[in-house]
Amino acid sequence: MKTEIIGTSDGSYTIKNEYFGETYHSINGALSESIHIFINLGLRNYRDSEISILEIGYGTGLNAMLTYIENMQLGNKIEYHSIEKFPISEADFIEYATNTKQISDKIAPDTLRKFGNGWNEEIQISNNFKLYKQVVDFSQFVPCEKYNLIYFDAFSPETQPEMWSEENLGKIVEQLVPDGIFVTYCSKGIVKQALRNLGLTVRRMPGPAGKRHVLQAIKHIEKCY
Ligand SMILES: C[S@@+](CC[C@H](N)C(=O)[O-])C[C@H]1O[C@@H](n2cnc3c(N)ncnc32)[C@H](O)[C@@H]1O
Repeated sequence: MKTEIIGTSDGSYTIKNEYFGETYHSINGALSESIHIFINLGLRNYRDSEISILEIGYGTGLNAMLTYIENMQLGNKIEYHSIEKFPISEADFIEYATNTKQISDKIAPDTLRKFGNGWNEEIQISNNFKLYKQVVDFSQFVPCEKYNLIYFDAFSPETQPEMWSEENLGKIVEQLVPDGIFVTYCSKGIVKQALRNLGLTVRRMPGPAGKRHVLQAIKHIEKCY
């Protein structure tokens, strides 16, 4: 699939997918968007814990690499499972990751490469970070693990409405553990309503530059005493 690496307003880079006509991140700042939504509203809720993360849409691997870097301070033991239908080429990955100094300055080259190759196999990136990048179409994906945290990072509902259907969201929300967290950049009404219908407590949070709101949804389970 034809892609192009382009600059964004905070000096970091994203990729444009020519087929879908969408960028993988906000042009108002790829790095700041990913940190704000997935790291600050998602990962930072966990410290010194054993957690599993599911990401829908691996793309450039930016969310995975930021999670790895941030977790050096947080000390979690992480199993990171990401799915992707159209993996970018290894050459594009290396170009993207080396251009992104906030990543390439913090991850050693040998480790960095592991984020871009080795699809469909579990890779032990470090003692406390295991990565499994699976090539699969979301519509065919059958999750069988439980997850503490879901990064839902599909292309927009305008481009790929099927990815955001209540049925499709339901099959992964079902896998959230009690008090598990779902985060996404999209705050559209239909997405909020679908998540509410699925029993999640949906919180509209302030967005990063260029975006008013993003969503954090929590699977609260009623406790019986
Ligand atoms: C917004 S981008 C993800 C950005 C990514 N999280 C990152 O950090 O770079 C959306 C991703 O979903 C992938 N995708 C599109 N359709 C898909 C499908 N049916 N199943 C799985 N992945 C899909 C795209 O190839 C793209 O990589």
